[in-house]
Amino acid sequence: MPHLSPLLTVMTNAARDAAKVLRRDFFEVEALQVRRKGAADFVTKADLAAEEAIVRSLQKARPKYGLVLEEQGEIEGSDNSNRFIVDPLDGTTNFLHGIPQFCVSIALERDREPFAGVVFAPITDEMFYAERGFGAFVNDRRLRVSGREDLSEALFGTGFPWKGKSGRGQSLKETDRVLAETAGVRRFGSAAYDLCMVGAGRLDGYWERGIQPWDVAAGIVIAREAGGEVTTIAEGKARPHLEGNVLATNHLLHDAARRLIEG
Ligand code: IPD
Repeated sequence: MPHLSPLLTVMTNAARDAAKVLRRDFFEVEALQVRRKGAADFVTKADLAAEEAIVRSLQKARPKYGLVLEEQGEIEGSDNSNRFIVDPLDGTTNFLHGIPQFCVSIALERDREPFAGVVFAPITDEMFYAERGFGAFVNDRRLRVSGREDLSEALFGTGFPWKGKSGRGQSLKETDRVLAETAGVRRFGSAAYDLCMVGAGRLDGYWERGIQPWDVAAGIVIAREAGGEVTTIAEGKARPHLEGNVLATNHLLHDAARRLIEG
């Protein structure tokens, strides 16, 4: 891996600590699936254990920073400008079903802006990371967004509305419009990973409504540092992790994608 800053070293170490817990539990959950019982409870315990590992690691290295945690809520720090935003297991449904596409996601927010991000997919062993001004990487490779300018050739990612989310999720009509005008839509099941796919140029865009800060804060830094544009969908606001909806593109397609999604 290229030389990591002290901050990214802290964050990647914490992600690896959580990944040890998740990797061990993932192979057990596959066995639980086969026996068809107890998998949901088991995954909840895996989430919590992974989050504990991250909290221990981050608090030891940066004791003054606050933490926003998917499972345990907010822990305030004495430093008012820096807080970590943590999803110990983004892609919980995949994990629960034995699908290896899930991530640990850790962001550092500085003065309300996502400043550094780490997204680690432990089964495929892909460590995505970025810090503002220093570019984005996966393992030792630099990331660049795609150069596609034509919507009809573009591949988009999204998250569909699901039962726990009805009311604040997006309409399927929106997805239909995107399907009709582009090369296709993928649903990987992890918002953090979707944003990394935009950064890697594998997806040309990604949008989702009803998201939480911990789903997207780390991926936003990675997509932006790879040359992408990330805003809210309708108003194009610059802090989508605080607004509950997000659009990320390779930059070239941003306005056209906004118009298409909004209808
Ligand atoms: C979920 C995933 C999914 C997205 C949902 C998220 P979780 O996060 O990122 O792709 O569609 O909006 O809630 O629950 O697995 O941490």
